[in-house]
Formats: sequence, C-alpha cells, structure tokens
Amino acid sequence: MATAKLLIFAGSARTLSFNKKLARIAADAVHRSGAEVTYLDLRDYALPIYDGDLESAEGLPVTALVLRRLFREHDGFVIASPEYNASLSPLLKNTIDWVSRRAEDGDYKDFFQNKSAALLATSPGASGGARGLPALRQVLAHLGVQVLEHQVSIPRQTEAFAEDGSLTNFAQRAEVDALVQLLLKNIAQQRARRDEAVERSGSAAGRIQAG
Ligand SMILES: Cc1cc2nc3c(=O)[nH]c(=O)nc-3n(C[C@H](O)[C@H](O)[C@H](O)COP(=O)(O)O)c2cc1C
Repeated sequence: MATAKLLIFAGSARTLSFNKKLARIAADAVHRSGAEVTYLDLRDYALPIYDGDLESAEGLPVTALVLRRLFREHDGFVIASPEYNASLSPLLKNTIDWVSRRAEDGDYKDFFQNKSAALLATSPGASGGARGLPALRQVLAHLGVQVLEHQVSIPRQTEAFAEDGSLTNFAQRAEVDALVQLLLKNIAQQRARRDEAVERSGSAAGRIQAG
C-alpha cells in the first residue's frame, strides 16, 4: 500500500507561535512513523482577506493555487489551531476559504473530500485551546473532511514547551504520537474501504458484461 502523505500546519503566522511548535512535534511523529510529511508555515503562504470582487476580477491568488495543489496531493491534515475568542483564527479560516473556492483547477471536493484530519491546539489557559476546535471541526466536516473525534490540547503553553520547542511532559508527547497513529490508521482504513468499493463495482461491471 502507498505511504500516507500528511500536510501539517498551524493556524498562526507568529514566529514564536506555540501552535507552530506543536505542529512541528506532530510532523516529527509522522516522520518517525515512516509516513510522508509536508510541514507548512502559513506565513510563507500569505493571502488577502477573501473578497468576492477580487476573486471575480483576478481569479485565485497564486498562493491559493499552490495551497490547493498541496491539499489535493495529501491524504490528510494535522492542524494545530490557536483559540481566538473560542473559535479558529482568521488566518486559518481565510486559508480554508480560499482553498475551498471553485476554479479551473477544481472545487472543494478535490481539496477536502476523502481526506482525514487530526486537530491539536495549545493556549495559555487551562482549556489548552480546546474551545476553539469545535468551530474548526465544523468547517472541515462541512467540506467533507473526516475529522478524528480524538483531539489533543496542551494547556498552560509557556510551561508546557521547552526552549527548544519540545514538550516537557512525556505524557503529552505520547498523546501527540497516539493522535498521529490514529490518523494514519484512519487513512489506511479509508483507503481499504475505497479500494474494496472499486473492486466491487469492477466485478459487478464484469458480471453485467459477461451476462
Ligand atoms: C484575538 C485573540 C483572541 C484570543 N482568544 C483566546 C481564547 O478565547 N481562549 C484562549 O485560551 N486564548 C485566547 N487567545 C490567546 C491565544 O490562545 C494565544 O495567544 C496563543 O498563544 C496563540 O497561538 P500561537 O502561540 O500559536 O500564536 C487569544 C489571542 C488573540 C490574539
């Protein structure tokens, strides 16, 4: 079976973003598991705030086209999402909105459907950013992404992360590892189900021809 390919990013552009640290930890866990991983820093993929007039006049920004290709090429996403007023960040929502638009290179189905996602968050408070994840979950599910029920949130981020960006608590590192493993298992199961469906429709077509 082909190796799973995961796209990993944080919903923060900040250089010292704790969610970027968390996304990198998840990327390392994917790498160790032998799957393919692409880590994105959304600061490198700047997009204007979505504006329908801009889209009508100029089409999709080049950055959006590049992101769409990356979304299409991967089997799943790991997203570390900062909590902004109990929701996802405008950066993350804006990125998803541009990627979801219909254009010559495809529509939302090509970039989101049949993909799986795992969500993480970290914040300074006791909830660890978990209160922002339902909003992100809703957006992704609406686009056809299968979002794992299990999620990881890391509270009190200033104490949780060491200077080098690692998580100081072994149990929290293990939680991130376990989440990545769950996502890879989910992708393998989805693939197996799709292959089975293709095989079934192939043999049904064969029977019709033979009959
Ligand atoms: C506009 C705004 C709203 C925020 N709202 C919340 C919130 O509702 N809950 C929370 O725990 N932290 C909140 N925070 C704090 C962020 O979780 C914190 O700054 C976090 O470190 C941001 O993620 P980053 O380090 O990846 O950039 C908010 C921060 C900003 C800028």
